[in-house]
Amino acid sequence: MKIKLGVIFGGRSVEHEISIITANQAMGSINLDKYEIVPLYISKKGLMYTGEGLDDLKSFKDMDKLIKSLTQVTLVNDGTNINVVRFPMKKFGENIINTIDVAFPAMHGTNGEDGSIAGFLETLNIPYIGCDPLSASIGMDKIMMRRVLKEVGIPSLDYIAFYSCDYIRDEDKYINQIEEKLRYPVIVKAGNLGSSVGIKKAKDKASLVEAIEYSMQFSDRIMVENAITNLKEVNCSVLGDTSNAKPSECEEPVGSDEILSYTDKYMSGTKTKAGNVESNGGAKQGMASLKRKLPAEISDEMKAKIQELAVETFKILGCNGVSRIDFLVDNDTNDVYVNEINTIPGALSYYLWEATGKSFSEEIDDLVQIALKRKRERDNLVFSYDQNILALNGNKIGVNK
Ligand SMILES: Nc1ncnc2c1ncn2[C@@H]1O[C@H](COP(=O)(O)OP(=O)(O)O)[C@@H](O)[C@H]1O
Ligand SMILES: [Mg+2]
Repeated sequence: MKIKLGVIFGGRSVEHEISIITANQAMGSINLDKYEIVPLYISKKGLMYTGEGLDDLKSFKDMDKLIKSLTQVTLVNDGTNINVVRFPMKKFGENIINTIDVAFPAMHGTNGEDGSIAGFLETLNIPYIGCDPLSASIGMDKIMMRRVLKEVGIPSLDYIAFYSCDYIRDEDKYINQIEEKLRYPVIVKAGNLGSSVGIKKAKDKASLVEAIEYSMQFSDRIMVENAITNLKEVNCSVLGDTSNAKPSECEEPVGSDEILSYTDKYMSGTKTKAGNVESNGGAKQGMASLKRKLPAEISDEMKAKIQELAVETFKILGCNGVSRIDFLVDNDTNDVYVNEINTIPGALSYYLWEATGKSFSEEIDDLVQIALKRKRERDNLVFSYDQNILALNGNKIGVNK
């Protein structure tokens, strides 16, 4: 029997389209001899749909039209199966459209990668690919993530973090803190976004205030950190779980601007010698279209260090499945800093795994096996007692809790 993979994508996130691309790439590489694909698309309004055409990028050119052709559904555990159920239900006829065995979230950013989809799947008690709610939510939150890294001594940049509401009440206090602990130029980031949204560099007090006000439009928490001026960025993926995590080959993303932008990451075609943009790049490729050096141009020693730190970061957070850990390297000092983790990385980092000798369909096989393993392990944990204490002690229980 084929395993039914419920590929969940889209979602209420600025990275909605990127998630559609990642899911499309994954669905194109799933081994159909072993798996059956059940596409589950979450609209920008947060409603779940299934239907025809979800595996074709062209369908998404007109999302309103696409949604009209789909069936709105929800997932329901009936004790035996995880059902894909039509909602609103029809009075007559079958409402259970399909079932899924393993959930495969391919969602980036808010309301997905941040642990919310993992939490939803936990309550359904279904095996699912990727991080659990705790590791996903810490991984998504730049500030919490930095606190964890600092606590365990994984190298990361010094920072100041605060709530927007506190900043509004006492702007000078935070500007002073930043100027005391950090040095210009600094980078201002919104607390919990991805894809370079809400990020600005500041070289003096005036531009700092401006950058903070800009970032506050995107998040209620702000992080300011030292900027690295002579920067090299290196990314490394990790696949596995806390008992067996392996690093991939390293890549070096190359941006056209100081801050690697949304357009650099997702829209860059490959320039030909004649200056034309090749059609294989661009929006259709998502993260896989980024201009990069693969493998990264770094020494063997630095590569080993980055791979080791990537695995350590993955394990400290308790990650599962495939993540990508992004590093900032200071070219002046050769210091390496963990910048961030992406617990559902763009294109699921397949291009890094291909460079490590693993095809995308083999990567997906691994991801399914890791998800099933975690479910088996969790099923062995005790979540409830057979004895019902309410039946034993009547109304006397609970007093000496
Ligand atoms: N401390 C820093 N110094 C210099 N450049 C930085 C720094 N932090 C981030 N950047 C630049 O900004 C980009 C986006 O920042 P990042 O923290 O990776 O956020 P996102 O979650 O949006 O990817 C990075 O890829 C890098 O180009
Ligand atoms: Mg980044």
